[in-house]
Amino acid sequence: MKISTFRTDELSSETRGGILELCSLAFGSPFDELFDFVGPSGVHVMLNDDSGDLSSHCVVTERTFWIGEHGPMRAGYIDAVATRPTKQGLGYGRAVMAESCLVCKSMGMDIMGLSTFIPEWYGSMGWKEWNGKLGLRNGSDIRQTSDLDGVVMVYGLAESYILDFSQHLIASWRPNGGW
Ligand SMILES: CC(C)(COP(=O)(O)OP(=O)(O)OC[C@H]1O[C@@H](n2cnc3c(N)ncnc32)[C@H](O)[C@@H]1OP(=O)(O)O)[C@@H](O)C(=O)NCCC(=O)NCCS
Repeated sequence: MKISTFRTDELSSETRGGILELCSLAFGSPFDELFDFVGPSGVHVMLNDDSGDLSSHCVVTERTFWIGEHGPMRAGYIDAVATRPTKQGLGYGRAVMAESCLVCKSMGMDIMGLSTFIPEWYGSMGWKEWNGKLGLRNGSDIRQTSDLDGVVMVYGLAESYILDFSQHLIASWRPNGGW
């Protein structure tokens, strides 16, 4: 297998189509809006199996997190984690997640985040569910997101930060208006 990383603006339309097809198959519903909220600098982690098929994917987008009174933190936000249904259970999902962690470290991120319906899977890789209040910041406006579907999880990268999971976590806004 081979893992490669490309920014959104480096992807050919064929590769973009392949990512959307993979995500739609894995999630069981159309995933057409991915490139509306993952900007040109989003970093796609792609795993091709030995036959060359795109088999697993995730994408890292830079956002800002504010936790309690802590100043802004650079956050690598993970979306579109998907393994082709016929290739699941082979360790590919964990492999792209491990690579996304290396990508975030190399970019100098402080923390990683994601929202999910399957916290157990991420928990097995060291991710922790956020227990405190959640909000999204758009300029000076902060919208509480207590009605969030799924859960928000974080993974600390900067060892100097001691995370208090009961504090208020606010993330920068993005085009789809969601986490
Ligand atoms: C979640 C997903 C990416 C895992 O990909 P994968 O390549 O099969 O993952 P891995 O092979 O690295 O890991 C498989 C392990 O995760 C476990 N797992 C898979 N889905 C799980 C789930 N929904 N909840 C808990 N554990 C799960 C498997 O039981 C397996 O456990 P094992 O290693 O003890 O056998 C894949 O199942 C998928 O694409 N699902 C649909 C899309 C999705 O839900 N994405 C995440 C949304 S945030």
